[in-house]
Amino acid sequence: MKPDVTGFFDDATNTISFVVKDPQSASCAIIDSVLDFDYSSGRTDTKSADEVIDYVTKNDLRVEWILESHVHADHLSAAPYLQERLGGKIGIGENITAVQDTFGKVFNEGTEFQRDGSQFDKLFVEGDSFHIGQMRGDVLHTPGHTPACLTYVIGDAAFVGDTMFMPDFGTARCDFPGGSSETLFASIQKILTLPDETRIFVGHDYKAPGRDEYAWETTVAEQRTRNVHVGQGQSREEFVEMRDARDATLAMPKLIIPSLQVNMRAGKMPEPDKDGDVFLKVPVNKL
Ligand SMILES: [Fe+2]
Repeated sequence: MKPDVTGFFDDATNTISFVVKDPQSASCAIIDSVLDFDYSSGRTDTKSADEVIDYVTKNDLRVEWILESHVHADHLSAAPYLQERLGGKIGIGENITAVQDTFGKVFNEGTEFQRDGSQFDKLFVEGDSFHIGQMRGDVLHTPGHTPACLTYVIGDAAFVGDTMFMPDFGTARCDFPGGSSETLFASIQKILTLPDETRIFVGHDYKAPGRDEYAWETTVAEQRTRNVHVGQGQSREEFVEMRDARDATLAMPKLIIPSLQVNMRAGKMPEPDKDGDVFLKVPVNKL
């Protein structure tokens, strides 16, 4: 089955959010939504999420799932905002508990911050399946970029989040706490065992040398033969060496501090203080 896939590109964070629709009904899922956040002013904005809402309402779609490929470190999730307006269950990988444990410590959260994933409606493990109308989705656990990364295989389309990017750009960084380039290599091999013609939708795009347009759709065959990090016969050792060396040169994403605090709570802000004001923390010299 071939789902109808619509991508929404966010210029500020190079993120692609997807609406994935069952071709035989009005049912759909939203994958990796964005809540706009201006760090210098501390203000949120719903422009990106509202574009998705407009699309869903104009097309009379029924949202069954709001899926996260992982806890993003470069943008805030709009999952609760979308859920309030459109319905649907919020899902993420079961290993979110490991991410909550790590960053619960980094942000010195109190015991009121649950580390059991209970902020989400559904925690998926490898081999789980779910439905969007009559269309079936299958869950692959594809860690490496983070411990909780999932790939959602829905009909002939695989939403790989931050594992591989477009073939000319390569792969995702593995240097966040709990990340591992060796693990990512194994996860990518797992994705590359899907049928050649499987459409691959990536979670970010940054263009690439020689390419002026943003892109987010490719295929397993293209990744297997053309991906600059894993598609040209690179061994595991070569990949690990390249990935780790490159990661050592990368700055932290601009929005990592607010993103982690919000996304580990399924996109919700921390509880307001007694005056009803909401604050995010900045851990000094911890990341
Ligand atoms: Fe990410």
